Amino acid sequence: MKSFSLPILVVSPLLIAVNARPNIRATLDIQDGQTGKLMVFPPQQTDTGTKRMLIIRSLHLGPTTCADHAVPAMNTLANHGYISRNGITNFAEIIRGTGEAFNIDPVMASGMAAQNLLTRGNPFVDKISIGGVSPFVPPLPGKIDGPETQGLAKHGRVEGDGSMTRSDVHIGDNRDFNQTLWDMDLEQLAMFGDDGPDGPGTVFNLQTLIELKRHNYESDQILDPEFAIPIRRLNGAYAAPALILRRVLVFANGTTKQATKRIISSFFMNQTFPENWFRAAAPVLPGSPIAAEIAAGLPQWFPGHNDENGVFVADPQPPAPFNISSGCANYWDTLVNAVPGSLAHVTGIFKQNVDLLNGILFNASGCSEPLAPAGPTNV
Ligand code: HEM
Ligand SMILES: *[C@@H]1O[C@H](CO)[C@@H](O)[C@H](O)[C@H]1NC(C)=O
Ligand SMILES: *[C@@H]1O[C@H](CO)[C@@H](O)[C@H](O)[C@H]1NC(C)=O
Ligand SMILES: *[C@@H]1O[C@H](CO)[C@@H](O)[C@H](O)[C@H]1NC(C)=O
Ligand SMILES: *[C@@H]1O[C@H](CO)[C@@H](O)[C@H](O)[C@H]1NC(C)=O
Ligand SMILES: *[C@@H]1O[C@H](CO)[C@@H](O)[C@H](O)[C@H]1NC(C)=O
Repeated sequence: MKSFSLPILVVSPLLIAVNARPNIRATLDIQDGQTGKLMVFPPQQTDTGTKRMLIIRSLHLGPTTCADHAVPAMNTLANHGYISRNGITNFAEIIRGTGEAFNIDPVMASGMAAQNLLTRGNPFVDKISIGGVSPFVPPLPGKIDGPETQGLAKHGRVEGDGSMTRSDVHIGDNRDFNQTLWDMDLEQLAMFGDDGPDGPGTVFNLQTLIELKRHNYESDQILDPEFAIPIRRLNGAYAAPALILRRVLVFANGTTKQATKRIISSFFMNQTFPENWFRAAAPVLPGSPIAAEIAAGLPQWFPGHNDENGVFVADPQPPAPFNISSGCANYWDTLVNAVPGSLAHVTGIFKQNVDLLNGILFNASGCSEPLAPAGPTNV
């Protein structure tokens, strides 16, 4: 199957070449009144060392936000102006913004952008809301995924249960920071964390993250009758805490490599860079061992969900050959259960963008064969 072709001129009655310059093939593709935008990688960063992130871009001066922000890193980027302050962003901006602010390598950033744009964005116009529904992100052309494009905060495809700082959607607010949950996380830090400049039990380490996730799952499994952690969610739920810790170095101070209580609290509670915080000293690449180490520390939690009696039961295994690794299983679950199946039948720039994003996920998956989107629509 050859589904990942490079952007080429697609023959479509709606697609008219408007620019004859040799290397830039700008085309106009209008579908359902929307103008398609071909996704391209931004220029590679030249400066990839550590640097002190000054709060040079003053906060809250941009247009009023049109989306309730839902996730800590993206909120921080929007608050500091590394992505649009109104919380509406796009493929290149996510790669450029996470690169500039957190030194995330484009390979890793494009993977995060791809999963989220395919599931909760409009990949024809190349827009996604980092919160809820926004008037600036139209529904998919032909409304092939329902009447609205939902945004990152919408539960079910990527956003899921057992988060560190947000409640499960069925029992509380799954968007906003929850101080009670964070206080419970900090209890685990006090018990298992390393000593540091903020005092004893204030530096995040592997054991803290394991105990913290254990506590998140144990309490949500009991409190939330519809508790569910499918493969893609379990991967995401371990990747997220892995991002805050040392060795992955995203939220940790780039010079000391420490993720302290003060630093992580600033990202979660204030959604801003902590004062005098340095970004990672070298580009952050995918493939951190920490997510797998957290998973290994919690063998009793596997992909599954509560049944009607509130008993936690395993989800079906992915079929061969998608069961060769957790990375490949994650790709299978994302394409089959989370990316709307209607994206398999799009044309023009829409198809080129979907193929690019799917190709990014496939390349990162370790799978031997790609999949077409086949998930439910309008959910
Ligand atoms: C720059 C690096 C990033 C870091 C350090 C980061 C960090 C985090 C953390 C720590 C959480 C967990 C929150 C919790 O459990 O309470 C989270 C959740 C989430 N992030 Fe990110 N993130 C990054 C980039 C991105 C990008 C680029 C996107 C999408 C474009 C994204 C989308 C999400 C979503 C949808 C969730 C919600 C998942 C859930 O807990 O239900 N993140 N992120
Ligand atoms: C915050 O979390 C606590 C503990 O799970 C819960 O009781 C409370 O309802 C949550 N608040 C919101 C607004 O979801
Ligand atoms: C949040 O910001 C306020 C105001 O700048 C500051 O006083 C407070 O210490 C910050 N909290 C954290 C956890 O960084
Ligand atoms: C980061 O480390 C530097 C030392 O290299 C230190 O001066 C600074 O205060 C630290 N920042 C935070 C937020 O802990
Ligand atoms: C994948 O599934 C096939 C068919 O059910 C099975 O024979 C094989 O052992 C599985 N492979 C792994 C690595 O689990
Ligand atoms: C996937 O990997 C192949 C082989 O390395 C490469 O040619 C292709 O450009 C990659 N696709 C994407 C979308 O990154």
